[in-house]
Amino acid sequence: MAKYKIAWLPGDGVGKEVMAAAKIVLDALKLDADYPHGDIGWEFWCKEGNPLPERTIELLKNTDACLFGAITSKPKEEAAKELAPELHDKGMVYSSPIVRLRQEFNLHTNLRPCKAYPGNPLNYSDEIDLVVFRENTEDMYVGIEFHPIPEEVMTVLTKHNPKMKRFAEQPADEVAITLRINTVKASRSIVTAAFEYAKKHGYKTVTIVEKPNVLRETSGLVVRTARKVAENYPGIDLWETNIDAMCMWLVKNPENYGVLVSTNMFGDIISDLCAQLVGGLGFASSGNIGDNYAVFEPTHGSAPKYAGLYKVNPTAMLLTAKLMLDWLGESEMASRLENAIATVIRDARVRTYDLGGNSTTLEVAEEVARKL
Ligand code: IPM
Ligand code: MG
Repeated sequence: MAKYKIAWLPGDGVGKEVMAAAKIVLDALKLDADYPHGDIGWEFWCKEGNPLPERTIELLKNTDACLFGAITSKPKEEAAKELAPELHDKGMVYSSPIVRLRQEFNLHTNLRPCKAYPGNPLNYSDEIDLVVFRENTEDMYVGIEFHPIPEEVMTVLTKHNPKMKRFAEQPADEVAITLRINTVKASRSIVTAAFEYAKKHGYKTVTIVEKPNVLRETSGLVVRTARKVAENYPGIDLWETNIDAMCMWLVKNPENYGVLVSTNMFGDIISDLCAQLVGGLGFASSGNIGDNYAVFEPTHGSAPKYAGLYKVNPTAMLLTAKLMLDWLGESEMASRLENAIATVIRDARVRTYDLGGNSTTLEVAEEVARKL
């Protein structure tokens, strides 16, 4: 029996292509693993009305970790139109399977390193070494939304807060509500993960990115919790920055920052910004990490425009495989893989279109495999 069982979820579009690239390097590393395939994505929404079938959840429960490619997500109405005819009018509402996976398996920590590898012509600066810790299970992503607003909900809210009155005066179907819910428990957990990472890897600061001057209760609770956690780490400074200002500072002086920590929605936003500073989504890896299980996925989506062309840069996916190897405790393999990726970037011989080259997704993976 193999040492590891890794659930293999390519998903949609270029997800399949970058996963094929990951397989090339994992095989070259001789990772002792089986890779049972799991169904996820748009095809299963259209055919079964569920982009994350229960059989896939069961499969994950019987594996050590999961590697995931990408999925296509579309807004409510568009998604409903693409359902198989027999599934129409059953009130099915599309929701993102990756968000569901994060919640279902309590994968509370979304780890997103954004490091500039020397020689990457797309680096904003070669000195950037950012790591985003994004809370992954709550905030605006809990999926508690109202539209139209039920009367009881409107009545209760108006009773508790007079600011609600001007919304209660409008037709219920002309108002929408998304709840932002943040807890001390999850905030403590994500900030602690950020500080532990900073301590282990020698970062001098952790920056909490919120908006407590306006979102007094939710961001306020998160920042107050972060201050408490920071007391346990005397050698590491906690910097507090508002999300809007942070976007500006990250473009102005990204080298000044190290570990960033935020809630789900703001973390999503700064992840893409940080990714672009080091070459774009083709370089951004991520891990959705829980206490005993983790799902690793590149930050990028399924890029329908490029699907089937084997053109996209697999680096994000290969760095994602590196994160998985680290998490599994295979640190020697993880650093060999990272070094090989860095070498291929520096050598500048085998490059995908985003870097001005014309090599394919799989050719880049093969070159990385040769450098291991
Ligand atoms: C990400 C993505 C997802 C998110 C989408 C696909 C639901 O943008 O992983 O950053 O918003 O979390
Ligand atoms: Mg995102």
